[in-house]
Amino acid sequence: MVRHFLTLDDFSSDEIHKLIATAEKVKSGKVKSQVLRGKNIAAIFEKPSTRTRVSFEVAVNQLGGNFIFLRGDELQLSRGEPVRDTARVLGRYVDGIVARVYEHNDLVELAKYSGVPVINALSNLYHPCQILADILTIKEKKRKLEGLKLAYIGDGNNVCNSLLIGCTKIGLNICVGSPKRYEPKKEIVEKAKSNAKKSGSQVEITNSPQVAVKDADIVYTDVFVSMGNEKEREERLKTFIPDFQVNTKLLENASPDAIVMHCLPAHRGQEITEEVLEGKQSVVWDQAENRLHAQKAIFIQLF
Ligand code: CP
Ligand code: NVA
Repeated sequence: MVRHFLTLDDFSSDEIHKLIATAEKVKSGKVKSQVLRGKNIAAIFEKPSTRTRVSFEVAVNQLGGNFIFLRGDELQLSRGEPVRDTARVLGRYVDGIVARVYEHNDLVELAKYSGVPVINALSNLYHPCQILADILTIKEKKRKLEGLKLAYIGDGNNVCNSLLIGCTKIGLNICVGSPKRYEPKKEIVEKAKSNAKKSGSQVEITNSPQVAVKDADIVYTDVFVSMGNEKEREERLKTFIPDFQVNTKLLENASPDAIVMHCLPAHRGQEITEEVLEGKQSVVWDQAENRLHAQKAIFIQLF
């Protein structure tokens, strides 16, 4: 059966640990894989990207494969060709598809009809590749995962959703601090709670950023205006700033050795201050580097 990478919820705790272990081996040079030799990977991007696009392209090249970058607006998809038709055609040419889409359901369609592994490079609902790199980063910095507390401050968006799923799968406690109306979706919180029951971790959703950050080992934030939310920009910024900004004062509530994470791109002065982003607790550049090692682990596991 073809295996896809659409959400971490499709992977067991053991499989996630295995992906992290593979990423560590790839990073240290212990594993040098050519798993994609002779294989072609199509990458459909409907939205801009720096980290995901480049780390995937480099990963595919270094694993011996060929990367075919396809801008969404240059495909017939943009002129109304159905996703399922695109999927069936691409599946006859290439060995795998990486896709960044507006609608998560389009990924589900690609997976259903292409017959080749499909990897979620971000959708409105999830960003699982990001969270794999994040878990790798947390493990590197904290030397463990279980029992730590991650505080996510800000919008209950795709990154927050995947953190909820990823953390609870591997036994990390997660507390989300979001303004009213911007909390993560109920169904996702329910999934996280059900995972947490199995892994023994805790999930909390609060409207107080101070409560969320209290004694946290990891303080994580993301943009207040995700790609696709541009029309709500003003209203969102008014709602989130200043209370939900990760700044020095908010960070005082966290554990003194807390690390600060951000999937990037960062908007200094909005979700995070320059001082914190560039400060000594910030691990954002290592986090960004780990995208490359994590992407390779995904290919090694899927192929
Ligand atoms: N973090 C992340 O996915 O960045 P890009 O949008 O640059 O790919
Ligand atoms: N939540 C952000 C993540 C960007 C990497 C977005 O979807 O735009």
